[in-house]
Amino acid sequence: MKPPGPGSIQFVLGARRQGFLSYVGSLWHQHGDLFQAKIGPRTLVFAMHPDAVERVAVSHRSNYDKLRSYDPVREFLLGDGLVSSTGDLWRRQRKWMAPFYTPKGVQTYAEAMLRDGERLVERWGDLAKRAAEVDIAEEMTFVTASIILKAMFSTETLDAIHQIKDAVETMIGFASNRMTSLPLPLWVPTGKNQKYLAARTLVHRLINEIIAQRRAMPESDWPDDLLSRMMNARDEETGQPMAESLLRDESITTFFAGHETTARTMTFAWYALAANPAVADELRAELDHVLGGRAPTVSDLRALPYTLQVVKESLRLYPAAPFYIRDAVGPDTLGGFEIPAGAGVMLSPYFTHRHPGFWEHPERFDPARWRKENESKQHAYAYHPFAAGPRICIGNNFSLLESHLLLAMLAQRFVPKLRTGYVPQWEMQGTLHLGNGLPMTITARD
Ligand code: HEM
Repeated sequence: MKPPGPGSIQFVLGARRQGFLSYVGSLWHQHGDLFQAKIGPRTLVFAMHPDAVERVAVSHRSNYDKLRSYDPVREFLLGDGLVSSTGDLWRRQRKWMAPFYTPKGVQTYAEAMLRDGERLVERWGDLAKRAAEVDIAEEMTFVTASIILKAMFSTETLDAIHQIKDAVETMIGFASNRMTSLPLPLWVPTGKNQKYLAARTLVHRLINEIIAQRRAMPESDWPDDLLSRMMNARDEETGQPMAESLLRDESITTFFAGHETTARTMTFAWYALAANPAVADELRAELDHVLGGRAPTVSDLRALPYTLQVVKESLRLYPAAPFYIRDAVGPDTLGGFEIPAGAGVMLSPYFTHRHPGFWEHPERFDPARWRKENESKQHAYAYHPFAAGPRICIGNNFSLLESHLLLAMLAQRFVPKLRTGYVPQWEMQGTLHLGNGLPMTITARD
């Protein structure tokens, strides 16, 4: 049996009228856990049940790959980096990169996280004196961009951080636009094409320069960052180093995948704390008790479980990656429905995390769900903010460490206050996004 769902025109109009997230939510209520939409000649299947996540991402993953759905990402943004590569190349790269991202491996970057966190504490201290309003989304994007650039390239200068950040953001906007519209070929000199090409040239040049500078130094002087580690890695079988173009693709991929998602998660956590004062009180009580006003270190984190629970609950209710897609290689059956070969299967952290069959009061922001005794009762695939299976986000430990540290540093000193009357406009723009930003006034705690 074919899955139920709207035709092409109905889907496009519905998504435009209602907004993508809200429209997909209404289709879920109407059709249940599996439904399809036609997008031109393509079939897009939405699968919300945790069992479908297990089948697509784990047990039947050989039938679900990153094929044509990822073409624009490969062509315009990430090349053969880890997010978009497939087959043997992906396997080899993942094996090379995995040791850099283990829970222990990511601790090397804690110093950069703490230094940038301190810089933000100082900045917010000044803002608090003036009771200034800022867009928290921008504050979080800048700090996470700065951290990932330090981790990758040991970049310290603010100017370089702004340059790379702005150019990669232009490339991201361009690539996601190509996925949702019918664009003109790249050789047509439209304003958008030219802006994209200029941004791509700049990013490639900056990264090539950093690699060349490093090659010109004795290896013993290379900084201990991700780029040096990638440049030092050798293929187990051939003994060959990573090709120059792959070094560049992996660098852009790490920057792309490694800052915006964490920035969004932190932004949504600030929103949730402002909207749930009892949670904010419990968080600050934990921070005061353990830290007593001093800055946290990595070894304090074990004693700050509630702080991490707040991050995990933000990732449940507001997952930065609300959907991820796989292309069905051959036909399959999901939830009793036929999935044709070539269909794009959309798995959705956003909706699985709100599934009433697996979450009590799913709309409630409740970090207590993440106490050990409660966590162990959950379905293994009801929570997948970082995807699942072998292609699970390689940076999940990095991101959790970063969010845990930053939240501890900032929440113990400041109470950002939401602008009166603010109503969040949740939007899907590749990642989950607040269309109207997050205007908050920074105030210091006593
Ligand atoms: C809250 C923060 C983050 C979220 C929600 C997140 C989410 C995800 C998701 C859902 C995927 C799967 C995408 C797909 O299969 O289509 C993914 C993959 C990936 N993420 Fe993250 N991510 C986060 C942070 C990071 C960080 C900090 C890094 C790097 C430092 C990173 C690097 C990657 C890479 C390289 C992949 C591809 C892995 C592979 O296919 O082998 N991510 N992420």
